[in-house]
Amino acid sequence: MELIDTHAHIDGEAYAEDRSEMLVRAKQADVVQIINFGDSMESSARSAALAESEPMVFTGVGVHPEEVFKMTDADDEQLAAWTKSPKVIAIGEIGLDYYWEKDQEKRALQREMFIRQLSLARELDLPVCIHDREAHGDMMSILKTEGRKNRGVIHCFSGSWEMAAELLKLGWYLGIDGPITYKNAVKAPEILRKLPLERILVETDSPYLSPQPYRGKRNEPAYVRTTAEFAASVRGEAFEEFALQTTKNARELYSLPSKV
Ligand code: NI
Repeated sequence: MELIDTHAHIDGEAYAEDRSEMLVRAKQADVVQIINFGDSMESSARSAALAESEPMVFTGVGVHPEEVFKMTDADDEQLAAWTKSPKVIAIGEIGLDYYWEKDQEKRALQREMFIRQLSLARELDLPVCIHDREAHGDMMSILKTEGRKNRGVIHCFSGSWEMAAELLKLGWYLGIDGPITYKNAVKAPEILRKLPLERILVETDSPYLSPQPYRGKRNEPAYVRTTAEFAASVRGEAFEEFALQTTKNARELYSLPSKV
């Protein structure tokens, strides 16, 4: 059994006290690889360094929409420089967040930064990991135009079945996280049942979005197993089959080594 936590943020303060124990717990839960994502230039630097020192950790570098600022050529060059390491395998976490950002000018700046990083990912021929919160309309229109030649995953997918169907048609993967296990999750499990297994990735978004029974506590990569077990049962599939295929999906998208 091999699982991959395809989306985490374990480079920060939340794990300052017990990062190595947390990684041991991940291994005990059969998590063999973790993809950590930067969300600012600072955390991308930390994330790239963590991937160098921890064999099981790979990383994406990028600027999250909540970190909105005017990106420069120097930022692009720095992001590209990090990707020279074989442990830096994606551009992310990038995207749009209209839940936290209500200001129209800053939303426009988010779109500019997002499009700029999509373009960088194409130049570098790397997959992207996308954050989309309450920005589904603009997200789809960008992915159909500027982003039509990108590949990657919509992390923690929160859209409708119609949106999922469009994304599948465009070749995207969809990320499934802890909230799928919550009692009030109704729409998401219905969508999950309809997704082709070949296009699902499982992720934690640690330290956020803990699955049940850890809801409200700090999340960690070991718990991707809880979410994966839940997702397999919702779909009526054997956990082993679900784990095998979603791990294969992650390795294909991110060109991860299969030998651990
Ligand atoms: Ni995230």
